[in-house]
Amino acid sequence: DWSMDDFIDEQIDEIRQQVGDKKVLLGLSGGVDSSVVGVLLQKAIGDQLTCIFVDHGLLRKNEAQEVMDSLGGKFGLHIIKVDAQKRFLDKLAGVTDPEQKRKIIGNEFIQVFNEEATKLNGIDYLAQGTLYTDVIESGTDTAQTIKSHHNVGGLPEDMQFQLIEPLNTLFKDEVRELGEKLGIPHHLVWRQPFPGPGLGIRVLGDITEEKLEIVRESDAILRDEIAKHNLEDNVWQYFTVLTGVRSVGVMGDLRTYDYTIAVRAITSVDGMTADFAKLPWDVLEEISRRIVNEVDHINRVVYDITAKPPATVEWE
Ligand code: XMP
Repeated sequence: DWSMDDFIDEQIDEIRQQVGDKKVLLGLSGGVDSSVVGVLLQKAIGDQLTCIFVDHGLLRKNEAQEVMDSLGGKFGLHIIKVDAQKRFLDKLAGVTDPEQKRKIIGNEFIQVFNEEATKLNGIDYLAQGTLYTDVIESGTDTAQTIKSHHNVGGLPEDMQFQLIEPLNTLFKDEVRELGEKLGIPHHLVWRQPFPGPGLGIRVLGDITEEKLEIVRESDAILRDEIAKHNLEDNVWQYFTVLTGVRSVGVMGDLRTYDYTIAVRAITSVDGMTADFAKLPWDVLEEISRRIVNEVDHINRVVYDITAKPPATVEWE
């Protein structure tokens, strides 16, 4: 008779036995999986755990602060936060190709992580939030390439860690259940998927700090309205995209020539196929009104009514 409480006790025992008095390193992303690993390890081995959280500047509004407050504050994890926004922006300057962006973000992430890891002494173990599905998928080459960017890898030869992967027998919904059992806030455990390259693939074309700010602010308004209308459980993923399109508008007596924001909201089971979410008109109206009023340089909002396939969820 399997229960999540038994699982937690077993894992804690197992981790303690495996680790002994050695030290463990964990990369936090702000996502569910690494957060759950972090809290579980903290329970098992306390301050033998060190976490690295790379802020690449492509996170949503307040996201970095929430990770620090929740995991660092409430749960007391020891987190080294690396402010790498400028490094990522410099590397991405002028880059417009989506796959090129992904590669740059992935590589830079690994490099920043490795630099920080190298500064730490006496670490023997690297913990990862690998799920059962990742274990299965890794059997094929395509899955490897698809997932390569959000795995921490490529550590220097002389830094060989042993891996700790406490979630590698669990499915995503079990990880969420585990997270709730461990006392991680509901909104963090049930948060929508967020891609590794973050807002970098939601600014179409070349990325600048100003454009990131636009997508961050509009995304925050969308999330606020979805929450306000209790639609979170009806929608699988929702976000805004800064299109490269500029069009004519009018504000007061003035003619404007500004950017268009696209709102993407989908229903899905696993992200492989999706339908656009049939959001109520009045909610869409409010979202549009607020984005145009509250976000500089936006004079038009459109709603993406395409399914996947033929479109993808993300625009890049
Ligand atoms: P697409 O756009 O491929 O998205 O229909 C399907 C799901 O995958 C997410 N996604 C990514 N996740 N790195 C990630 O970690 C990526 O490069 C990436 N691209 C897409 C997307 O947000 C959606 O949930």
